[in-house]
Amino acid sequence: MDRKEVESLVSAQNQWRMRECINLIASENRMSPLAEKMYMSDFMHRYAEGSPYKRYYQGAKYIDPLEEGATELAKKLFRTDQAELRVLSGGTANTAAFSALGGHGDLLMSPGLAGGSHISHESFGVAGILGYRVEHAAFDESEYNIDVDASVKKIRKLKPKVVTLGGSVILFPHPVKEFREACDEAGARLLYDGAHVLGLIAGGQFQDPLREGAELMTASTHKTFPGPQGGIILGSTDEETWKRVQFRVFPGLISNHHLHRIPAMAIALNEMLEFGREYAVQTVRNAQALGQSMHEMGFNVLAENKGFTKSHQIVLDVRKNGGGKDCAETLEKAGIILNKNLLAWDKADDAVNPSGLRIGVQEMTRIGMKESEMKEIAALIKKVLIDRKPPAEIAKEVAEFRKPFHETQYCFRD
Ligand SMILES: Cc1ncc(COP(=O)(O)O)c(C=O)c1O
Repeated sequence: MDRKEVESLVSAQNQWRMRECINLIASENRMSPLAEKMYMSDFMHRYAEGSPYKRYYQGAKYIDPLEEGATELAKKLFRTDQAELRVLSGGTANTAAFSALGGHGDLLMSPGLAGGSHISHESFGVAGILGYRVEHAAFDESEYNIDVDASVKKIRKLKPKVVTLGGSVILFPHPVKEFREACDEAGARLLYDGAHVLGLIAGGQFQDPLREGAELMTASTHKTFPGPQGGIILGSTDEETWKRVQFRVFPGLISNHHLHRIPAMAIALNEMLEFGREYAVQTVRNAQALGQSMHEMGFNVLAENKGFTKSHQIVLDVRKNGGGKDCAETLEKAGIILNKNLLAWDKADDAVNPSGLRIGVQEMTRIGMKESEMKEIAALIKKVLIDRKPPAEIAKEVAEFRKPFHETQYCFRD
């Protein structure tokens, strides 16, 4: 590959995904122009092992106040005095937190893939790599949420060392309060993985896990939270546990924490303090509006009985539309980008062609789309998946529809 090819592929990507597509992957977002500007700096070339003002490298005099300031902003936004920004991703945040709470031979109870949790909470993911045995909480398909009573019984009976809530498919708040009581009785540690819903939590529009009883909350900083790709750990735990978490991060897992994320994160945190509520309210409204429109157009949107969602996501059972694989691939040809997803009844073997599609509206909300645009998106998806119009034809309509929407909202103007 020569230099021209590299340039041309990058420029094609920018044009396609930033200008022509409807981006509905529930784990993606976009930074504001100012955060992006702060991201592209000399810090991307540097090292600063350690913590602010306690570094093992010279040359850190500007990252020190930035990292300290960003950490203070995170504490303010999430109303806690324990915040760790050096983790490079949600997965690394889980690795650090899980390993601080227990390990080899211990039992970890998570919702499991069928219950919407992430692979890192599974025996074949981070939890298993750390030596945890994994059991799953019970899931209620009709409510599309954790089955509280059955899961609480399981906690009391199995007495896991660690219990996790939160997930990658998460339509409704998880029962943190209810689990807290059971965990106290069983001597279990309770962690909430807020990777997907961090931005909604910041905007006060989902649940508030740290106040409901989770002692640690791990997350990505780039899903509903519109920051740079990275991770965060927030705590309301005892000093000793928090020290262990931080020691797992550095020197445990991370040497260099990719410094250019930090100023971008400081901007994103400031923006969420100022515009987070408005953004989160509109995101949830948009998800509900999209669910309603798709339902009216004949799609099987899950959790109709509960208004489809209280988060940024909706989930569809598309078995009668050709299955998750075909639907996601056909929509991609039409410029509508989302992902196929396992639903609660699917087995891990169904991952190649699962029953479902997961749709997230946070990125399109960030560029100013509202309920009326959600109706139009539903109609475009219907043309592809129900009317079976040629995807290439719809791709032109999609690009036309995207034209007025390219400026990021809910952020500082440069
Ligand atoms: C619930 C949950 N936790 C953790 C992760 C991992 O996050 P990252 O991709 O930032 O490593 C994801 C990713 O999608 C997720 O959905």
